[in-house]
Amino acid sequence: MDGTQDFYALKAMLDWQVEMGVTDAICDDPVDRYEVPAEAPKIASVQKAKTESAPPVPEAPDPAVIAKEVAENVGALDGLAATLKAFDLCEIKRGARNFVFADGNPLARVMIIGEAPGRDEDMAGRPFVGRAGQLLDKMFGAIDMGRDAVDAEKSIYITNILPWRPPQNRDPSPEEIAMMRPFVERHVELAQPGVIVLMGNVSCQAILGKRGITRLRGQWAEAFGKPCLPMFHPAYLLRNPAAKREAWHDLLMLREKLKG
Ligand code: URA
Repeated sequence: MDGTQDFYALKAMLDWQVEMGVTDAICDDPVDRYEVPAEAPKIASVQKAKTESAPPVPEAPDPAVIAKEVAENVGALDGLAATLKAFDLCEIKRGARNFVFADGNPLARVMIIGEAPGRDEDMAGRPFVGRAGQLLDKMFGAIDMGRDAVDAEKSIYITNILPWRPPQNRDPSPEEIAMMRPFVERHVELAQPGVIVLMGNVSCQAILGKRGITRLRGQWAEAFGKPCLPMFHPAYLLRNPAAKREAWHDLLMLREKLKG
């Protein structure tokens, strides 16, 4: 190859590289990146080099702490609904069709806290409207109370720990419960019910930090400075009708408490 051929051959190679998208010349000598280095660098020394040179990566803030800050700054129920609806750190939100906040009379003396919307609630955007909700209405109707009552003494106010339906109605994780708790706490502070009814295990876990509804039900507890009564969830009663006896007992306890 004479000098001229050499020039045209090299120019053709360069043009080809430019055409293939090469923009920078990095090394004078080519590097075979498939070639395994004779001795891989020791992980410890790589890590040491990393810690010496890289700035520390800040830890991601805990979503429950963010939720607390956000919830504490809300001053009214409609503001709480809007703030919770806009809260984007809970993965469950992405799979839900609708946001489900509350139903009934916000001035009611009794606030009922369920678990999470199911399919029917997700479609309707209202809590407890499916079969379990219809049973809940019947149960409270039996002690002359209901979500449509105007009188605060006879009405109920209903919400859930989660405002979004979990995929396949799975139980919310402890992290998801912890993230939603500050919103529930603020909800109670703003609604100021006289008494809270906790429906099922998820609500007991979120509010009392305990599970085991069979043991907890029918015994007054306290949370957020309010008396709380754990009860069997109506969905459980649909599957176990024999437990309606205990549920009736608990409703009578609630009625007695409200008389006092
Ligand atoms: N179960 C719940 O706990 N909440 C609802 O809203 C519906 C079913």
